[in-house]
Amino acid sequence: MDILKHELPDLFVFANGDRVHSVADWHRRRLELRNIIFDLQYGGYPPSPASVKVQELCVSSPMKRFANAKYVTCKVTCMADSDRAISFILNYYLPVGEGPFPVVLTGDACWRNASDAIILEILQRGYIMALFNRVEIVPDMRRVGRSTGLYAVYPELEFGALSAWAWGYQRAIDALLTKAYVNREQIAVVGHSRGGKTVLLAGAMDERIAVVGANNSGAGGAGCYRWQGPKSETLADNMKKFPDWYCERMTPFIGKEHELPFDQHGLKALIAPRALLTLEAYDDLWANPTGTWQTFRAAQEVYRFFGKEAALGTWYRAGGHGHTEADWQIFMEFADWQMRGITPSHIFTQNPFPDLPPAHTWSAPVNES
Ligand code: GCU
Repeated sequence: MDILKHELPDLFVFANGDRVHSVADWHRRRLELRNIIFDLQYGGYPPSPASVKVQELCVSSPMKRFANAKYVTCKVTCMADSDRAISFILNYYLPVGEGPFPVVLTGDACWRNASDAIILEILQRGYIMALFNRVEIVPDMRRVGRSTGLYAVYPELEFGALSAWAWGYQRAIDALLTKAYVNREQIAVVGHSRGGKTVLLAGAMDERIAVVGANNSGAGGAGCYRWQGPKSETLADNMKKFPDWYCERMTPFIGKEHELPFDQHGLKALIAPRALLTLEAYDDLWANPTGTWQTFRAAQEVYRFFGKEAALGTWYRAGGHGHTEADWQIFMEFADWQMRGITPSHIFTQNPFPDLPPAHTWSAPVNES
Protein backbone atom coordinates (compact mmCIF):
# COMPACT_ATOMS: atom_id res chain seq x y z
CA MET A 1 0.00 0.00 0.00
CA ASP A 2 2.98 2.27 0.54
CA ILE A 3 3.31 2.82 -3.16
CA LEU A 4 0.09 4.82 -2.91
CA LYS A 5 1.47 7.26 -0.38
CA HIS A 6 3.91 9.17 -2.55
CA GLU A 7 4.60 12.89 -2.52
CA LEU A 8 2.27 14.93 -4.75
CA PRO A 9 4.12 16.59 -7.66
CA ASP A 10 5.14 20.24 -7.29
CA LEU A 11 2.64 22.30 -9.28
CA PHE A 12 5.12 25.14 -9.74
CA VAL A 13 7.62 23.16 -11.81
CA PHE A 14 7.24 22.96 -15.60
CA ALA A 15 7.76 19.62 -17.33
CA ASN A 16 11.23 20.84 -18.43
CA GLY A 17 12.22 21.63 -14.84
CA ASP A 18 11.78 25.43 -15.05
CA ARG A 19 10.08 27.04 -12.08
CA VAL A 20 7.11 29.40 -11.81
CA HIS A 21 7.98 32.84 -10.44
CA SER A 22 5.19 35.09 -11.67
CA VAL A 23 1.51 35.02 -12.53
CA ALA A 24 2.46 35.05 -16.23
CA ASP A 25 4.56 31.93 -15.62
CA TRP A 26 1.65 30.28 -13.84
CA HIS A 27 -0.66 30.94 -16.79
CA ARG A 28 1.79 29.08 -19.05
CA ARG A 29 2.27 26.29 -16.51
CA ARG A 30 -1.49 26.02 -16.09
CA LEU A 31 -1.99 25.42 -19.82
CA GLU A 32 0.79 22.84 -19.83
CA LEU A 33 -0.72 21.04 -16.85
CA ARG A 34 -4.22 21.24 -18.30
CA ASN A 35 -3.07 19.63 -21.55
CA ILE A 36 -1.30 16.87 -19.67
CA ILE A 37 -4.27 16.11 -17.41
CA PHE A 38 -6.87 16.26 -20.16
CA ASP A 39 -4.90 14.34 -22.78
CA LEU A 40 -3.83 11.56 -20.47
CA GLN A 41 -6.76 11.20 -18.16
CA TYR A 42 -9.87 12.32 -20.01
CA GLY A 43 -9.00 11.62 -23.66
CA GLY A 44 -8.82 15.29 -24.63
CA TYR A 45 -11.71 17.71 -24.90
CA PRO A 46 -14.34 18.39 -27.59
CA PRO A 47 -13.81 21.58 -29.63
CA SER A 48 -15.97 24.67 -29.15
CA PRO A 49 -18.88 24.71 -31.59
CA ALA A 50 -19.00 27.12 -34.54
CA SER A 51 -22.29 28.48 -33.20
CA VAL A 52 -24.88 27.91 -30.48
CA LYS A 53 -28.58 28.62 -31.10
CA VAL A 54 -31.12 28.97 -28.31
CA GLN A 55 -34.79 28.45 -28.98
CA GLU A 56 -37.36 29.03 -26.24
CA LEU A 57 -39.94 26.26 -26.33
CA CYS A 58 -42.04 27.15 -23.31
CA VAL A 59 -42.26 29.77 -20.56
CA SER A 60 -44.65 28.84 -17.77
CA SER A 61 -46.82 31.32 -15.85
CA PRO A 62 -45.46 32.43 -12.46
CA MET A 63 -45.35 29.42 -10.15
CA LYS A 64 -46.58 30.20 -6.67
CA ARG A 65 -44.75 27.28 -5.05
CA PHE A 66 -41.45 28.56 -6.43
CA ALA A 67 -41.76 32.17 -5.21
CA ASN A 68 -43.56 33.17 -8.45
CA ALA A 69 -40.63 32.16 -10.61
CA LYS A 70 -41.23 31.24 -14.24
CA TYR A 71 -39.95 27.96 -15.64
CA VAL A 72 -38.28 28.31 -19.02
CA THR A 73 -37.55 25.42 -21.38
CA CYS A 74 -35.04 26.03 -24.19
CA LYS A 75 -33.60 23.92 -26.92
CA VAL A 76 -29.87 24.53 -27.28
CA THR A 77 -28.40 23.59 -30.65
CA CYS A 78 -24.63 23.49 -31.05
CA MET A 79 -23.36 23.45 -34.64
CA ALA A 80 -19.95 21.84 -35.11
CA ASP A 81 -20.10 22.94 -38.76
CA SER A 82 -22.90 23.34 -41.32
CA ASP A 83 -23.70 19.58 -41.27
CA ARG A 84 -23.02 18.38 -37.78
CA ALA A 85 -24.97 19.45 -34.70
CA ILE A 86 -26.15 18.32 -31.29
CA SER A 87 -29.14 19.66 -29.34
CA PHE A 88 -30.13 19.39 -25.72
CA ILE A 89 -32.75 20.85 -23.41
CA LEU A 90 -31.91 23.54 -20.84
CA ASN A 91 -34.50 24.37 -18.19
CA TYR A 92 -34.34 27.17 -15.71
CA TYR A 93 -36.35 28.75 -12.93
CA LEU A 94 -36.35 32.52 -13.42
CA PRO A 95 -36.96 34.62 -10.29
CA VAL A 96 -39.26 37.63 -10.29
CA GLY A 97 -37.55 40.91 -11.22
CA GLU A 98 -35.30 42.37 -13.87
CA GLY A 99 -31.98 40.87 -12.90
CA PRO A 100 -29.22 40.53 -13.72
CA PHE A 101 -29.39 37.38 -11.58
CA PRO A 102 -26.60 35.08 -10.46
CA VAL A 103 -26.98 31.49 -11.70
CA VAL A 104 -26.61 28.04 -10.22
CA LEU A 105 -26.25 25.50 -13.03
CA THR A 106 -26.26 21.72 -12.67
CA GLY A 107 -26.06 19.04 -15.35
CA ASP A 108 -27.33 16.38 -12.97
CA ALA A 109 -30.98 16.70 -14.04
CA CYS A 110 -30.85 12.94 -14.78
CA TRP A 111 -30.58 12.39 -11.03
CA ARG A 112 -33.18 14.94 -9.94
CA ASN A 113 -31.31 15.47 -6.68
CA ALA A 114 -32.21 19.13 -6.06
CA SER A 115 -35.39 18.92 -3.98
CA ASP A 116 -38.20 21.45 -4.41
CA ALA A 117 -37.17 22.96 -1.05
CA ILE A 118 -33.64 23.55 -2.37
CA ILE A 119 -34.88 25.04 -5.63
CA LEU A 120 -37.10 27.39 -3.63
CA GLU A 121 -34.19 28.37 -1.39
CA ILE A 122 -31.97 29.10 -4.39
CA LEU A 123 -34.70 31.30 -5.88
CA GLN A 124 -35.23 33.07 -2.59
CA ARG A 125 -31.53 33.86 -2.52
CA GLY A 126 -32.14 35.61 -5.83
CA TYR A 127 -30.53 33.09 -8.20
CA ILE A 128 -31.65 31.54 -11.45
CA MET A 129 -31.62 27.76 -10.99
CA ALA A 130 -30.66 26.12 -14.30
CA LEU A 131 -30.64 22.42 -15.10
CA PHE A 132 -29.68 20.27 -18.02
CA ASN A 133 -29.27 16.59 -18.47
CA ARG A 134 -25.62 15.78 -19.13
CA VAL A 135 -26.57 12.34 -20.49
CA GLU A 136 -28.19 14.10 -23.44
CA ILE A 137 -24.66 15.10 -24.45
CA VAL A 138 -23.33 11.54 -24.22
CA PRO A 139 -25.00 8.60 -22.48
CA ASP A 140 -23.84 7.19 -19.17
CA MET A 141 -24.10 3.62 -20.44
CA ARG A 142 -20.95 2.09 -21.75
CA ARG A 143 -22.77 -0.56 -23.76
CA VAL A 144 -24.46 2.13 -25.87
CA GLY A 145 -21.01 2.76 -27.38
CA ARG A 146 -19.92 5.89 -29.18
CA SER A 147 -22.60 6.01 -31.85
CA THR A 148 -24.79 8.71 -30.27
CA GLY A 149 -24.68 12.29 -28.98
CA LEU A 150 -21.47 14.27 -29.11
CA TYR A 151 -19.47 11.11 -29.84
CA ALA A 152 -21.29 10.85 -33.18
CA VAL A 153 -20.59 14.52 -33.95
CA TYR A 154 -16.84 13.95 -33.57
CA PRO A 155 -16.23 10.27 -34.41
CA GLU A 156 -12.55 11.03 -35.06
CA LEU A 157 -11.95 12.22 -31.46
CA GLU A 158 -11.40 10.14 -28.35
CA PHE A 159 -12.68 12.36 -25.51
CA GLY A 160 -14.40 10.43 -22.74
CA ALA A 161 -17.77 11.05 -21.10
CA LEU A 162 -16.47 13.37 -18.37
CA SER A 163 -15.02 15.76 -20.96
CA ALA A 164 -18.22 15.60 -23.01
CA TRP A 165 -20.38 16.37 -19.98
CA ALA A 166 -18.12 19.28 -19.00
CA TRP A 167 -18.48 20.59 -22.57
CA GLY A 168 -22.26 20.44 -21.98
CA TYR A 169 -21.87 22.82 -19.03
CA GLN A 170 -20.01 25.22 -21.28
CA ARG A 171 -22.76 25.14 -23.90
CA ALA A 172 -25.45 25.66 -21.25
CA ILE A 173 -23.48 28.74 -20.16
CA ASP A 174 -23.28 29.93 -23.80
CA ALA A 175 -27.07 29.67 -23.90
CA LEU A 176 -27.66 31.40 -20.56
CA LEU A 177 -25.40 34.27 -21.57
CA THR A 178 -27.69 35.10 -24.49
CA LYS A 179 -30.13 36.41 -21.84
CA ALA A 180 -29.68 39.98 -20.55
CA TYR A 181 -31.11 38.94 -17.17
CA VAL A 182 -28.13 36.64 -16.48
CA ASN A 183 -25.26 38.11 -14.49
CA ARG A 184 -22.21 37.00 -16.49
CA GLU A 185 -19.87 37.54 -13.54
CA GLN A 186 -21.86 35.28 -11.22
CA ILE A 187 -22.15 31.79 -12.68
CA ALA A 188 -21.83 28.87 -10.28
CA VAL A 189 -21.81 25.21 -11.32
CA VAL A 190 -22.65 22.21 -9.15
CA GLY A 191 -22.47 18.46 -9.65
CA HIS A 192 -22.45 15.32 -7.57
CA SER A 193 -20.16 12.30 -7.77
CA ARG A 194 -19.49 11.70 -11.51
CA GLY A 195 -21.25 15.06 -11.91
CA GLY A 196 -18.79 16.48 -9.34
CA LYS A 197 -15.86 15.24 -11.43
CA THR A 198 -17.56 16.89 -14.40
CA VAL A 199 -17.82 20.34 -12.82
CA LEU A 200 -14.14 20.25 -11.88
CA LEU A 201 -13.36 19.72 -15.57
CA ALA A 202 -15.79 22.45 -16.61
CA GLY A 203 -14.22 24.86 -14.10
CA ALA A 204 -10.75 24.00 -15.38
CA MET A 205 -11.81 24.75 -18.98
CA ASP A 206 -14.10 27.74 -18.62
CA GLU A 207 -13.10 31.00 -16.98
CA ARG A 208 -16.66 32.31 -17.16
CA ILE A 209 -17.41 29.99 -14.23
CA ALA A 210 -17.01 31.98 -11.01
CA VAL A 211 -17.69 29.21 -8.48
CA VAL A 212 -17.40 25.41 -8.75
CA GLY A 213 -19.13 23.07 -6.29
CA ALA A 214 -17.89 19.47 -6.58
CA ASN A 215 -19.89 17.19 -4.32
CA ASN A 216 -18.44 13.80 -3.24
CA SER A 217 -16.50 13.66 -6.51
CA GLY A 218 -13.85 11.07 -5.54
CA ALA A 219 -11.46 9.32 -7.95
CA GLY A 220 -10.88 11.25 -11.17
CA GLY A 221 -12.33 14.28 -9.32
CA ALA A 222 -11.16 15.77 -6.03
CA GLY A 223 -9.68 12.39 -4.98
CA CYS A 224 -6.04 11.41 -5.15
CA TYR A 225 -4.19 8.65 -6.95
CA ARG A 226 -1.04 8.70 -4.82
CA TRP A 227 -2.82 8.99 -1.47
CA GLN A 228 -5.47 6.34 -0.97
CA GLY A 229 -7.49 5.98 2.20
CA PRO A 230 -9.01 2.63 3.24
CA LYS A 231 -11.53 1.22 0.74
CA SER A 232 -11.16 4.14 -1.63
CA GLU A 233 -11.57 3.84 -5.40
CA THR A 234 -8.28 3.31 -7.23
CA LEU A 235 -7.07 4.04 -10.73
CA ALA A 236 -7.50 0.32 -11.43
CA ASP A 237 -11.18 0.58 -10.42
CA ASN A 238 -11.69 3.60 -12.69
CA MET A 239 -10.22 1.88 -15.69
CA LYS A 240 -12.02 -1.40 -15.11
CA LYS A 241 -15.50 -0.05 -14.36
CA PHE A 242 -15.67 3.28 -16.19
CA PRO A 243 -13.23 3.21 -19.11
CA ASP A 244 -15.68 5.33 -21.12
CA TRP A 245 -15.26 8.22 -18.66
CA TYR A 246 -11.48 8.21 -18.98
CA CYS A 247 -8.71 7.53 -21.46
CA GLU A 248 -6.93 4.21 -21.89
CA ARG A 249 -3.59 6.03 -21.72
CA MET A 250 -4.06 5.92 -17.93
CA THR A 251 -3.99 2.11 -17.82
CA PRO A 252 -0.17 1.75 -17.85
CA PHE A 253 -0.05 3.80 -14.62
CA ILE A 254 -2.05 1.24 -12.63
CA GLY A 255 0.20 0.25 -9.74
CA LYS A 256 2.61 3.01 -10.83
CA GLU A 257 0.53 5.97 -9.77
CA HIS A 258 3.66 7.68 -8.46
CA GLU A 259 4.86 7.93 -12.08
CA LEU A 260 1.84 9.94 -13.24
CA PRO A 261 2.94 13.43 -14.33
CA PHE A 262 0.07 14.91 -12.28
CA ASP A 263 -2.37 14.13 -9.50
CA GLN A 264 -5.78 15.55 -8.77
CA HIS A 265 -4.49 18.56 -6.81
CA GLY A 266 -3.48 19.77 -10.27
CA LEU A 267 -7.08 19.60 -11.53
CA LYS A 268 -8.21 21.72 -8.57
CA ALA A 269 -5.39 24.20 -9.14
CA LEU A 270 -6.49 24.75 -12.76
CA ILE A 271 -9.54 26.56 -11.37
CA ALA A 272 -7.47 29.03 -9.28
CA PRO A 273 -7.88 31.84 -8.47
CA ARG A 274 -11.60 31.36 -9.13
CA ALA A 275 -13.65 29.87 -6.31
CA LEU A 276 -13.92 26.13 -5.69
CA LEU A 277 -15.71 24.25 -2.92
CA THR A 278 -15.31 20.51 -2.62
CA LEU A 279 -17.90 18.83 -0.42
CA GLU A 280 -17.06 15.47 1.15
CA ALA A 281 -18.50 12.97 3.64
CA TYR A 282 -16.47 11.18 6.33
CA ASP A 283 -18.05 7.77 5.65
CA ASP A 284 -17.89 8.05 1.87
CA LEU A 285 -14.70 5.98 1.91
CA TRP A 286 -14.98 5.05 -1.77
CA ALA A 287 -14.57 8.78 -2.60
CA ASN A 288 -11.33 8.89 -0.57
CA PRO A 289 -12.00 11.59 2.06
CA THR A 290 -8.39 11.66 3.30
CA GLY A 291 -7.03 11.82 -0.26
CA THR A 292 -9.32 14.73 -1.10
CA TRP A 293 -7.93 16.56 1.90
CA GLN A 294 -4.40 15.95 0.60
CA THR A 295 -5.25 17.35 -2.82
CA PHE A 296 -6.94 20.31 -1.11
CA ARG A 297 -3.83 21.12 0.89
CA ALA A 298 -1.57 20.93 -2.13
CA ALA A 299 -3.92 22.98 -4.35
CA GLN A 300 -4.06 25.58 -1.57
CA GLU A 301 -0.47 26.48 -2.47
CA VAL A 302 -1.66 27.84 -5.83
CA TYR A 303 -4.44 29.84 -4.23
CA ARG A 304 -1.87 31.16 -1.74
CA PHE A 305 0.38 32.16 -4.65
CA PHE A 306 -2.50 34.34 -5.88
CA GLY A 307 -3.22 35.66 -2.36
CA LYS A 308 -6.71 34.11 -2.72
CA GLU A 309 -6.70 31.39 -0.10
CA ALA A 310 -10.32 32.02 0.86
CA ALA A 311 -11.45 31.10 -2.67
CA LEU A 312 -10.61 27.43 -2.10
CA GLY A 313 -12.90 25.74 0.37
CA THR A 314 -13.76 22.27 1.51
CA TRP A 315 -16.53 20.88 3.64
CA TYR A 316 -16.78 17.51 5.38
CA ARG A 317 -20.06 16.30 6.78
CA ALA A 318 -21.04 13.18 8.70
CA GLY A 319 -22.54 10.29 6.74
CA GLY A 320 -22.03 8.67 3.38
CA HIS A 321 -22.28 9.30 -0.32
CA GLY A 322 -25.11 11.59 -1.45
CA HIS A 323 -26.06 15.07 -2.57
CA THR A 324 -28.04 16.09 0.49
CA GLU A 325 -30.03 19.25 1.16
CA ALA A 326 -27.32 20.22 3.66
CA ASP A 327 -24.70 19.96 0.88
CA TRP A 328 -26.73 22.29 -1.35
CA GLN A 329 -27.20 24.77 1.50
CA ILE A 330 -23.50 24.81 2.36
CA PHE A 331 -22.67 25.30 -1.30
CA MET A 332 -25.10 28.21 -1.59
CA GLU A 333 -23.57 29.83 1.45
CA PHE A 334 -20.13 29.52 -0.13
CA ALA A 335 -21.38 30.87 -3.48
CA ASP A 336 -23.07 33.83 -1.80
CA TRP A 337 -19.87 34.59 0.05
CA GLN A 338 -17.59 34.30 -2.96
CA MET A 339 -19.77 36.11 -5.48
CA ARG A 340 -21.74 38.55 -3.34
CA GLY A 341 -19.62 39.07 -0.24
CA ILE A 342 -22.25 37.70 2.15
CA THR A 343 -20.46 36.55 5.32
CA PRO A 344 -20.81 32.78 5.78
CA SER A 345 -21.58 31.10 9.08
CA HIS A 346 -19.14 28.25 8.37
CA ILE A 347 -15.38 28.03 7.97
CA PHE A 348 -14.35 26.34 4.74
CA THR A 349 -10.73 25.58 5.53
CA GLN A 350 -11.06 23.54 8.71
CA ASN A 351 -8.68 20.57 8.93
CA PRO A 352 -10.84 17.42 9.01
CA PHE A 353 -7.86 15.12 9.72
CA PRO A 354 -5.50 16.94 12.10
CA ASP A 355 -3.27 13.87 12.52
CA LEU A 356 -2.62 13.38 8.83
CA PRO A 357 0.76 14.67 7.61
CA PRO A 358 0.58 16.57 4.28
CA ALA A 359 1.33 14.69 1.07
CA HIS A 360 3.47 17.53 -0.28
CA THR A 361 6.61 19.21 1.02
CA TRP A 362 6.91 22.05 -1.53
CA SER A 363 5.17 25.38 -1.16
CA ALA A 364 4.10 28.41 -3.19
CA PRO A 365 7.03 30.46 -4.46
CA VAL A 366 7.15 34.18 -3.79
CA ASN A 367 5.04 35.82 -6.48
CA GLU A 368 7.48 38.10 -8.32
CA SER A 369 4.88 39.58 -10.67
C1 GCU B 1 -19.25 4.96 -8.80
C2 GCU B 1 -17.86 5.40 -9.22
C3 GCU B 1 -17.50 6.75 -8.63
C4 GCU B 1 -18.58 7.76 -8.94
C5 GCU B 1 -19.92 7.23 -8.49
C6 GCU B 1 -21.10 8.13 -8.88
O1 GCU B 1 -19.27 4.67 -7.45
O2 GCU B 1 -16.94 4.41 -8.83
O3 GCU B 1 -16.26 7.20 -9.14
O4 GCU B 1 -18.26 9.00 -8.36
O5 GCU B 1 -20.17 5.99 -9.09
O6 GCU B 1 -21.02 8.88 -9.81
O7 GCU B 1 -22.15 7.97 -8.24
